[in-house]
Amino acid sequence: MKHTDIRDLFSGKVQTGETVTVCGWVRTARDSKNMAFIELNDGSTLKHMQIVIDKASVTPPAAAMHLGAALKVEGVLVPAQNGGGVEINAAGIEVLGDCPPEYPLQKKFQKLETLRETPHLRVRTNTFNAVFRVRSVMAAAIHRYFQERGYVYVNTPLITGSDCEGAGEMFQVTTIGYSDKYKNREDYYRDDFFGRRAGLSVSGQLEGEVAALAFGKIYTFGPSFRAENSNTPRHVAEFWHIEPEVAFAELPDIIAIAEEMIKYIIREVVETCPTELEFFETRFEAGLREKLRHVIENDFAIVEYTDAVEQLKASGKQFEYPVEWGCDLQTEHERYITEEIYKKPVFLINYPKGIKAFYMKQNPDGKTVAATDLLVPGVGEIIGCSEREADYDKLVSAMTERDMDLSAYRDYLDLRRYGSVPHSGFGLGFERILMYVTGMQNIRDVILYPRTVGSIR
Ligand code: 4AD
Ligand code: MG
Repeated sequence: MKHTDIRDLFSGKVQTGETVTVCGWVRTARDSKNMAFIELNDGSTLKHMQIVIDKASVTPPAAAMHLGAALKVEGVLVPAQNGGGVEINAAGIEVLGDCPPEYPLQKKFQKLETLRETPHLRVRTNTFNAVFRVRSVMAAAIHRYFQERGYVYVNTPLITGSDCEGAGEMFQVTTIGYSDKYKNREDYYRDDFFGRRAGLSVSGQLEGEVAALAFGKIYTFGPSFRAENSNTPRHVAEFWHIEPEVAFAELPDIIAIAEEMIKYIIREVVETCPTELEFFETRFEAGLREKLRHVIENDFAIVEYTDAVEQLKASGKQFEYPVEWGCDLQTEHERYITEEIYKKPVFLINYPKGIKAFYMKQNPDGKTVAATDLLVPGVGEIIGCSEREADYDKLVSAMTERDMDLSAYRDYLDLRRYGSVPHSGFGLGFERILMYVTGMQNIRDVILYPRTVGSIR
């Protein structure tokens, strides 16, 4: 269907005075005796195109005035009567698809909670137009960042036999149900599709390390799955995960990479999506653009876990969960550190080994691991990162302490036998950074179809 995107008409690609065709959905319609006005949106930009109908020359079909109806309009592009920009003096209007009055997007501003009930329609609102534009621009920026620097993009398996994080959050993949006919679980898994226990991957890291120890620098960008039974504004069961893995990199090296990458992708969004960021600032987070500018221009803080625990204890603040050295920090602690103490992104480093995953490099103190989480104001953790344990014996002892089945990690252990090198990587939650950049407060509002405990569609 020959037509022009509305964004191209606003950007000056087409001269006024020319005849153009636009397609889109009716956002508002006003009818009077001699004139009618329709605001049309085609999703290519947040801005609506005003269609001006002089009834002396054009009779609009009744359906053209229905909210949500899809139209094709031909007319002359002219300077707008009010407020600058352009509008179209209609010469012909064709209704592509009528829309009945029960169309759910009737009110101008609907609550985000209400909009979640119609995920297939909420994408037609300004909010979701802006969210998904930023999401797309950021995804491209992430690829560009790594591609410009020679990283190899690898696709790691989604169905896996090994649990990366060891936190018991893996969805099981099976074609048969467990029944009395099996003597035990092992017997049952043997009968199942893969002949052993399988699940949806919580992280591509283990296979990412395999690739990094061949290609040097790699990254993944794909979905991860977590059967976390936590109904929070920051957790979904299916999220998109960016996981670079770098050979010959130690913890300070990977921290520098993470900081550079975060700044790079935020700068790209700031430069490419000014209209969207202005919209988020007006609707969702005052001072958003200043916050992002501050992030781009300043160093992130690097703080020892041990020091952060002391600062939290000294703060005098009553937390729901008390803080002690060795405890896993809760969101309330993470947010206090980044929002109240440092007021900027913070890399918290050197966590107690007992609260972190088996693969992290053990520090010489015998108590901590070379791991870091990147915490940001408003969201909390957006990155989980570490140097990996490259020593075979130390890795085996960490796994044995956790009662892990070594046979499921044979390849991973082999990497420590055949030319082991220091290497590090991190996992960035795509939806989490999107929340930070857009100011959206619920992860369900930055993903097309959120999957959460008790909810799928
Ligand atoms: O901290 P996590 O669990 O680290 C890993 O999976 C490592 N294997 C990454 C690596 O080193 N390659 O998860 C990494 C990030 C978190 O910081 C968070 O941003 C995101 O993934 N994430 C989630 N996002 C949304 N919903 C969930 N349920 C998430 N779980 C983790
Ligand atoms: Mg983590």
